[in-house]
Amino acid sequence: MISARNIRKQFGGVDVLRGVSLELGKGEVIAVIGPSGSGKSTFLRCLNQLETIDRGDIEIEGEILASTDSHGICRYAPDKEARRICRKMGMVFQQFNLFPHLTVLQNIIEAPITVKGMSREAAVPLAQELLRKVGLLEKCDSHPSRLSGGQKQRVAIARALAMEPDIMLFDEPTSALDPELTGEVLRSMRQLADEHMTMLVVTHEMAFARDVSSRVIFMDGGEIVEEQPAASFFANPLQPRTRAFLNHLG
Ligand SMILES: Nc1ncnc2c1ncn2[C@@H]1O[C@H](COP(=O)(O)OP(=O)(O)OP(=O)(O)O)[C@@H](O)[C@H]1O
Ligand SMILES: [Mg+2]
Repeated sequence: MISARNIRKQFGGVDVLRGVSLELGKGEVIAVIGPSGSGKSTFLRCLNQLETIDRGDIEIEGEILASTDSHGICRYAPDKEARRICRKMGMVFQQFNLFPHLTVLQNIIEAPITVKGMSREAAVPLAQELLRKVGLLEKCDSHPSRLSGGQKQRVAIARALAMEPDIMLFDEPTSALDPELTGEVLRSMRQLADEHMTMLVVTHEMAFARDVSSRVIFMDGGEIVEEQPAASFFANPLQPRTRAFLNHLG
């Protein structure tokens, strides 16, 4: 579903991604972990063109979003094409980014109607179904300011799903939440995984990474240091840097 090869990215002359490659298969759940500043968010943002890459290749479901030729020149698909390709991916951020002036329901139907051209008659029942799925149907007429952080994040998940993506990208979706609220968000994510959604999840929730993901990637210093099936990653990390990171977490 996602094939990223040798992705390089600099910010102000500093290498933030030093050749990151990833293959994400259909229905797979990959957890990305690593210390602050290791490039996890940047990598995720590069995949759906919230950042542009300097070098490397990105294919989404077999379609080329960006590719680099033998002279090292990186080219993107034309704008319209690129936008269409990127819409295959939904993204959930640490900060929920809901529109404060819209109700929960309005937040969810906004993009399907304005971006996808879905009719209101089709968008509303879809939004209601998604809200039921994340356990928030009764909040459909509330404004985000009346919701807890965990509820806001579940609305953000429903909003991303309303675009009917094939792949979901999560960037530390629970790290802005109080510990007692993370469980409800993780439950919604686990349910998505059980329904075989293809997911790439940057997380610091090690239990989630171990129990829900099929593979774990450890990033440090802009590179993938280690990649293993989840069970062996935690039972038998091979790289000293991975061990140090996991030990540090206790
Ligand atoms: N827009 C930007 N401009 C300049 N530097 C940036 C920008 N975005 C990220 N960086 C730098 O790139 C590096 C990687 O940042 P990134 O946010 O990808 O790390 P991260 O692994 O997601 O960290 P965290 O766990 O704290 O979220 C950091 O050194 C950061 O300061
Ligand atoms: Mg980050």
